[in-house]
Amino acid sequence: MNSASDTQLAADPQAATTEGAIQRVLVLEMVRVTEKAAIAAAQLVGRGDEKAADAAAVEAMRRAFDNLYMDGTVVIGEGERDEAPMLFIGEKVGMGKGPKIDIALDPLEGTTITAKAGPNALAVLAAAEEGCLLNAPDVYMDKLAVGPGYPEGIIDLAKSATENVCAVANAKGVKPSDINVCVLDRPRHAELIAELRGLGCGVVLIGDGDVAGVIAVTDEDTTIDMYMGQGGAPEGVLAAAALRCVGGQFNGRLVFRNDDERARARKWGIEDLNRIYKLEDLAKGDCIFAATGVTDGSLLAGVKRRRKVTGETILTTESVVMRASSGTVRWIRGEHRIA
Ligand code: FBP
Repeated sequence: MNSASDTQLAADPQAATTEGAIQRVLVLEMVRVTEKAAIAAAQLVGRGDEKAADAAAVEAMRRAFDNLYMDGTVVIGEGERDEAPMLFIGEKVGMGKGPKIDIALDPLEGTTITAKAGPNALAVLAAAEEGCLLNAPDVYMDKLAVGPGYPEGIIDLAKSATENVCAVANAKGVKPSDINVCVLDRPRHAELIAELRGLGCGVVLIGDGDVAGVIAVTDEDTTIDMYMGQGGAPEGVLAAAALRCVGGQFNGRLVFRNDDERARARKWGIEDLNRIYKLEDLAKGDCIFAATGVTDGSLLAGVKRRRKVTGETILTTESVVMRASSGTVRWIRGEHRIA
């Protein structure tokens, strides 16, 4: 990243290079997009209607993109063109001028959480220069993550859960039983959970929302050392983009349940179906990660509606936006006045 392109962009957006645009303008603009999606979804927290909450977030995010000076393409979105009316894979977003940006998005990560008013629902996206985000098909992914500070290669999906926990415990100078591992609470993880409990690990079970689950390994306050288990592949790319910005290690391997899913992966250009992806394979270059809390969670507070004595209604939002090339992490508290 050079400062010449920054100066150029500040003076004349038309002359922006992709590099400069990512650096100076889009970082903060992306928060507006996740804020809009979160606010829309928040109207439906606890209303028991996953589809309505998702649709509200999708529509609000779609509209918010219109104001961005970029030639954006959704590479991870709401599904393929024939199954998603908006924010489908391949859809163009932004003003259609300016830098070519690929976007991975999940307007509402945690639809069930939102419907039930549970923790950790987010509006989330990652953006990077064209070609820098893996076009992950909507299949499952085996995920393994650890926070920053460990020697490179400390985790390895090709090894057992026990070997990975022991490696991390050893590097940390603690016993395996001191390691806390976050896992999605699903029947498919019964063996994994039993193996971890057999080691004496603390298993932190989450009902949904593994983007926040993976990111939790980067925050010492969560006391979560590792993330393990299968979740959505698109969510894996989003979490990887965040870890590219704040540090940590991630391994992901696509999981195919049938030939249709394998065919879908091949359609997106994935040839080695057993490949173990690391951070740079999922999100490379200068990527941005942005998220706004919909409900309260380990990463962000959710949207709150406050009525002032003046009669004004204010919505507060909490967001985070990070950039890989600088490692800058900005926490943004927004106050939005409702007419
Ligand atoms: P949705 O918001 O699409 O419902 O995803 C929530 C989520 O928990 C993800 O965080 C996770 O990757 C995925 O679902 C796990 O899928 P499943 O619920 O099928 O186990």
